Amino acid sequence: VKKPKKKKVLLMGKSGSGKSSMRSIIFSNYIARDTRRLGATIDIDLSHVKFLGNLTLNLWDCGGQEAFMENYLSQQRVHVFSNVGVLIYVFDIESRDVDRDMATYVSILSALTQFSPTAKIYVLIHKMDLIMVQAREAVFTERVRLVRQKTTEFIQGSGYTGELDLIPFATSIWDQSLYKAWASIIHDLVPNLSVIESQLESLGILIEAEELLLFERTSFLVVSSWTSNEGHNNPTEDRQERISNILKHFKQSISRFTGTPRNAEQFSLMEHKAGTRFSMFACKFTTNTYLMVILPPGEARFNSAKL
Ligand code: GTP
Ligand code: MG
Repeated sequence: VKKPKKKKVLLMGKSGSGKSSMRSIIFSNYIARDTRRLGATIDIDLSHVKFLGNLTLNLWDCGGQEAFMENYLSQQRVHVFSNVGVLIYVFDIESRDVDRDMATYVSILSALTQFSPTAKIYVLIHKMDLIMVQAREAVFTERVRLVRQKTTEFIQGSGYTGELDLIPFATSIWDQSLYKAWASIIHDLVPNLSVIESQLESLGILIEAEELLLFERTSFLVVSSWTSNEGHNNPTEDRQERISNILKHFKQSISRFTGTPRNAEQFSLMEHKAGTRFSMFACKFTTNTYLMVILPPGEARFNSAKL
């Protein structure tokens, strides 16, 4: 029997940048507009998020008001920054004081490299919905460049010898970009994923699928996927996170109609046959996962795959 694994995930960034909003949407079944009701986080909001059954995410949502930040960096420094697996640092793209944000980020980096030098760092450039569509890519690239520059300057000035490889994402709670970032974060935290991946491949080949998506039950994040050669021709590149978003909203709208709790089990099978183009179904797969199967058209293939 495997012991549950505990990983500390720090969620940091200045107050109002959207940390608790993301956490509530991904792990607590909030929809985007529910987050307007969230108050500022006082000190640290600890949660143990159960994931894929035996994996527990030890999530530290750190309130970002200045007094709290100063406290993490001083009195609570060892407590907060030791034993960190992942730091998720959130920048509000609409922030009026970028210099100050960068300075705070570097202080956090300094504490992190001191106590958890092997931690992975995700940088989320958040609230991208507030930037005009045409400008998004340029604004994102420029902000990431700045964060990388500050990171490099910090490394050079600090004598830190490890490698700091930060992984940037543009995110917004108002679209599927949130799911892309969090699926990637989660992907890094799941042990034995290569076993799951090779078994998905065998299954996919066996049932002649074009694509298989394995979703975690409560968050609907894609934890693993397999795509056939044919499936790779699909031009919609953000389809995985789109589907996470769609399934989650589907589940939530069912709960509004039926009055069942939002985190209850809501559907066991969903089917769609798009004529001569493709067919798909999504079903409960294991205790903690849903599976979505995308197939070429054909009744016999569809029925056999379901069986
Ligand atoms: P502290 O707990 O004080 O550190 O703040 P926080 O980072 O937890 O911020 P919180 O999640 O409470 O969000 C603050 C406000 O930002 C809320 O009103 C959210 O609705 C809003 N918000 C969060 N994410 C987004 C986003 O992607 N786009 C937009 N436009 N607003 C967002
Ligand atoms: Mg908060």
